[in-house]
Amino acid sequence: MKKVVSRSGRFARGPAADVAAFSESISFDWRLGKHDIAGSLAHAAMLRKVGLLTTAEHRTISAGLEEIRGEIERGTFKWKAELEDVHMNIEAELTRRVPAGAKLHTGRSRNDQVALDMRLWLREEIGALVGEVRGLQRAFLDCAEQNASVIIPGYTHLQRGQPVYFAHHLLAYVEMLERDRERLGNCLDRVNVCPLGNGALAGSTLPLDREFVAKQLGFVDAQGRPRVTQNSMDGVSDRDFIIEFAATAALLAVHLSRLAEDVILWASAEFNFIKIADAYTTGSSLMPQKKNPDVAELTRGKSARVIGNLMSLLTLLKGLPMTYNRDLQEDKERLFDTADTVRACVRLMTAMLAHTTVNAQVCRAAAGDPQLLATDLADYLVRKGVPFRQAHHVVGAVVALADKLGKPLDRLTLEEFQSVDQRFGTDIHAVFDLDQAMARRNLVGAPGTKEVCAQMARWGRLLRQRGLHA
Ligand code: ARG
Repeated sequence: MKKVVSRSGRFARGPAADVAAFSESISFDWRLGKHDIAGSLAHAAMLRKVGLLTTAEHRTISAGLEEIRGEIERGTFKWKAELEDVHMNIEAELTRRVPAGAKLHTGRSRNDQVALDMRLWLREEIGALVGEVRGLQRAFLDCAEQNASVIIPGYTHLQRGQPVYFAHHLLAYVEMLERDRERLGNCLDRVNVCPLGNGALAGSTLPLDREFVAKQLGFVDAQGRPRVTQNSMDGVSDRDFIIEFAATAALLAVHLSRLAEDVILWASAEFNFIKIADAYTTGSSLMPQKKNPDVAELTRGKSARVIGNLMSLLTLLKGLPMTYNRDLQEDKERLFDTADTVRACVRLMTAMLAHTTVNAQVCRAAAGDPQLLATDLADYLVRKGVPFRQAHHVVGAVVALADKLGKPLDRLTLEEFQSVDQRFGTDIHAVFDLDQAMARRNLVGAPGTKEVCAQMARWGRLLRQRGLHA
């Protein structure tokens, strides 16, 4: 085996072949290539600034790194397993091409380097995910607006409860996603701190300019002041930012999984509230009539992986003594898988939603079930001064009577109502006017006609004016 950059000197020979195969990470950390180069460019610029590289050395190193960056982008750069990881692959190739490359690792360890790369990678990833979450929120809003007058039963215990606008149900997901987006932004705040300069664990005796590197790489606060980690031991071993992202992503995945469950129910023959376009469903290899909501099912299923990744990461960290331990290499596949999976789920659910139509008539029929307004009936009595507990009991008796007579609630005559309680008046049937009932639900956050319109308008302002990445 060829001598590799980090082993020269101390070791008489390279690692055994099975050790090399066991410990390599290039098969997955190649994804950090672009970020590793960005970090190296900033580090090299700093080394020149503090006089550890000459201008000429800096120039050749930068040119060499840019060249490698181009090859990585074009897919022509040859990753070598014997060079173990992305950091050594790039540095070794640079040094092969540019002798001054041997000075690049001055004052740097792969420990702070990998921490930096992960932060750069995740920062970009969070930005992209936030954009996709915005897209899903917008798809919900579009669907809500297109079906603004559709009313469905709202459920508790998966039993019909009270009527709600379909839009109100969709906007519930927009709210959940907004919290996810806020959490992602919050996580980004802690990702966005520069660990370079922490060395292996104890910084460096060289006069490095950490703030300069931080600024170069955009690790700055709202005022443009550099943000650097404040303890070198923490700086190289901290993976909290990855766990925070994994936790935020897991909650987002759980939200998507709940959405998937609603979609699956709604698309069933039993509900029949929606129709998913053929392109977003699949058939059965045996039953010719089947049209299955696989995108939603897989979204529900994939949330399990994302939750599992969070557990893996927490478990990975829990027994580690300070500071860097090679175990930390195991964070990458879990992080990459989490980010890839969640992004794919958000993207596919967005597309599926845009290709879903609502069966307004079926919804209306379901929402027309007069029992959904039993609570309104109790509220009617409350307005006449009946204590709610009593009103609840009385309406229960009315429901039982309708049941006994085999009639829908709204078909009971005034006499039949009054046989249960004299306080029911001639205006009782007006309670069952669904449109009026919806107009009455006018509290903040309630599914009332005006209220839901106002919420759609509010989200329209928030989602359409801010642009994709706001
Ligand atoms: N591939 C390693 C990782 O992902 C890079 C850091 C290696 N550091 C070391 N001291 N061996 O964690």
